[in-house]
Amino acid sequence: MTPDPLLRVDRLTTVFDTARGALPAVDAVSFEIRAGETLGLVGESGSGKSVTALSIMRLVQPPGRIATGRVIFKGRDLLTLGEREMQRVRGAEISLIFQEPMTALNPVFRIGDQIAETLVVHGRATKRDARAKAIDLLRSVRIPHPESRVADYPHQLSGGMRQRVMIAIALSCQPSLVIADEPTTALDVTIQAEILDLLREMKSALGLSLLLITHDFGVVAETADRVAVMYAGRIVETGPVRAIFRSPAHPYTRGLLASMPGGRPGERLRAIEGSVPLIGELPPGCAFTPRCPNRFEPCPTAPPPDYPAGIGHEAKCYLHDPHMTALQSAAHPQSAVRSPQSPDAAR
Ligand SMILES: Nc1ncnc2c1ncn2[C@@H]1O[C@H](COP(=O)(O)OP(=O)(O)OP(=O)(O)O)[C@@H](O)[C@H]1O
Ligand code: SF4
Ligand SMILES: [Mg+2]
Repeated sequence: MTPDPLLRVDRLTTVFDTARGALPAVDAVSFEIRAGETLGLVGESGSGKSVTALSIMRLVQPPGRIATGRVIFKGRDLLTLGEREMQRVRGAEISLIFQEPMTALNPVFRIGDQIAETLVVHGRATKRDARAKAIDLLRSVRIPHPESRVADYPHQLSGGMRQRVMIAIALSCQPSLVIADEPTTALDVTIQAEILDLLREMKSALGLSLLLITHDFGVVAETADRVAVMYAGRIVETGPVRAIFRSPAHPYTRGLLASMPGGRPGERLRAIEGSVPLIGELPPGCAFTPRCPNRFEPCPTAPPPDYPAGIGHEAKCYLHDPHMTALQSAAHPQSAVRSPQSPDAAR
């Protein structure tokens, strides 16, 4: 019997209340993260990745609200906890790293004091030993001269160093799960690689699980064990990272992979035409229909369920319904259901 996952998100739906009604930014999203595993959550801008992360942490602000679903973490549904209990979970058991550390760090406090505060609030240090622990943490995320840097204000550090401080704060209470929302997007390429290396290293040293949110499949290829692909508030494909790269099952995933820099040499970058629909303007049926090169009769009628596409691999796409494939061949005689070759960047 496989052990229970560390985190199980079960049909989570988060809506924004608007004059036009409650519009779902996260629509019946389900996924699991096992202990020690990295799940890459990928999708274009506006697909609902950050709202998913904020929902898990119960940090969605009005007019947003969690409408239904469960977020089972270590056997407890976080959505049923009182706010005080939830505060104990945040930072201590699950921590969040944002894209832009300047928004998460307080500009008027020294970085050492900000790390110390997290430690003291969660009972991981006394006021007396918090500073020494803060210095140790800065050293562990490889900030040079931590004894003097501990007294710096955030603006005195480079973007990469600030992200290291955020990682130090995120790891200070030894959480079991870290959610990193585009942790390297705001940084330049060499610094991005260093920060990803640091995250991977810390993850294996501390045995934690990572939910890594990114729009960059290259980051996923290097870091994730499994992948969940999100489109218009829904998870449209999940699977092991190798399977996703070798035989992507959903046309959206194929489109994202084809637009990935560093694909086949000489191959032109092809962005997927069109953009993610706004919430409230979702087409009926499969939300990808207007952009999908493989669309056929059933696509606009009802949202597709999950179909098996391999071991531990599922896709919400009618192409994987054996009863529908005859229809698809008739609609696209030259493009029978097939997966493109994986890009060379795949592991
Ligand atoms: N405060 C808000 N009010 C109304 N709609 C919102 C609000 N915040 C987010 N949304 C909507 O929710 C949807 C999902 O947004 P989200 O920020 O989760 O996307 P994302 O996948 O994280 O995108 P990005 O890659 O740009 O960070 C979007 O359509 C967005 O417009
Ligand atoms: S269900 Fe239809 S429109 Fe949606 S991804 Fe599959 S083929 Fe394309
Ligand atoms: Mg986001």
